[in-house]
Amino acid sequence: MASSSTFSLCGYLLLVLVATASSSLTPSYYDGVCPNALPTIKRVVEAAVYRERRMGASLLRLHFHDCFVNGCDASILLDPSPTIDSEKNALPNANSARGFEVIDQIKSEVDKACGGAVVSCADILAVVARDSVVALGGPTWAVQLGRRDSTTASRTAAETDLPSPFADLPELINGFKKQGLDEKDLVVLSGAHTLGFSKCGAFKNRIYNETNVDPNFAQKRRSTCPPSGGDGNLAPLDPTPARFDLAYFTNLKNKKGLLHSDQQLFNGGSTDNLVNTYSSNAPAFWNDFANSMVKMGNIRPLTGNQGQVRLNCKMVN
Ligand code: HEM
Ligand SMILES: *[C@@H]1O[C@H](CO)[C@@H](O)[C@H](O)[C@H]1NC(C)=O
Repeated sequence: MASSSTFSLCGYLLLVLVATASSSLTPSYYDGVCPNALPTIKRVVEAAVYRERRMGASLLRLHFHDCFVNGCDASILLDPSPTIDSEKNALPNANSARGFEVIDQIKSEVDKACGGAVVSCADILAVVARDSVVALGGPTWAVQLGRRDSTTASRTAAETDLPSPFADLPELINGFKKQGLDEKDLVVLSGAHTLGFSKCGAFKNRIYNETNVDPNFAQKRRSTCPPSGGDGNLAPLDPTPARFDLAYFTNLKNKKGLLHSDQQLFNGGSTDNLVNTYSSNAPAFWNDFANSMVKMGNIRPLTGNQGQVRLNCKMVN
């Protein structure tokens, strides 16, 4: 009895050592230290999405914009300071990335629930992305955890590494490849555009100048997006911007993609087949989206004693 429990204690310690030595993340990271962390995040996300459905889209996008810029390290959340060239001021984020106040509210409630700052801002972004997708009717997945927060940010990296809505397919493929993501990840993660809105400035050229666009759709979009001015006017990225459904992909097949980059995924190139699949196969979209979100969430995390767990997501400790 004594020797068997000694053995299992050794086995347990060995497991802990192995788990700590590897730099990989695990869904059970906070189970022991703060079992209330994940339920607290979920509760605040649900309340925020209930107040405004678009918030779910905005929160999902924050995790993407975090991960593509020097990894999933919450660098996007840092405010400008003498030492921080904030990513919030980068072209793809300025007047566009939103939901920061929800993240701050979550951080303060989670720290209260945990009795201290044990959950990183980077992990909060990853869990919030999943809970937002679920709140809007999409798939769920086990979020890998154990990321730590950066002490730096890079506005210039945000400008080079976040994909442009004006990019052609090869540029989109390359941008994802740079992050270790393949064509399938590109197509299925672009399916996030089943949620949320875009500003007129990002799709104006498409609805006035492009030819691979449904004319009735272009005309309808022009009514709230004039050829000059109105750059901040919003249009939904698909016809059902508050529902995680297949409409984004069926739309692409009908040349009703809102962004140039969206329509590139179905324009006679190598990704047409994936769009065809997802447009008619909800389980495939659900399953592959969940898998690719985990993959995106694994981009170059800080682990172990790298970085820090911020006390305030907006600033370095
Ligand atoms: C493939 C390359 C991508 C490009 C070029 C792109 C570009 C854009 C642009 C231009 C907007 C509109 C922003 C605005 O006008 O304020 C937008 C919105 C959005 N993007 Fe993407 N995106 C891409 C991939 C992704 C990925 C991978 C995700 C998440 C997994 C994502 C999630 C979203 C969401 C949810 C919105 C709506 C946000 C809101 O309503 O606040 N996008 N994207
Ligand atoms: C359409 O294309 C022309 C020529 O490139 C450009 O000058 C014009 O600004 C474009 N129109 C819109 C609305 O983007």
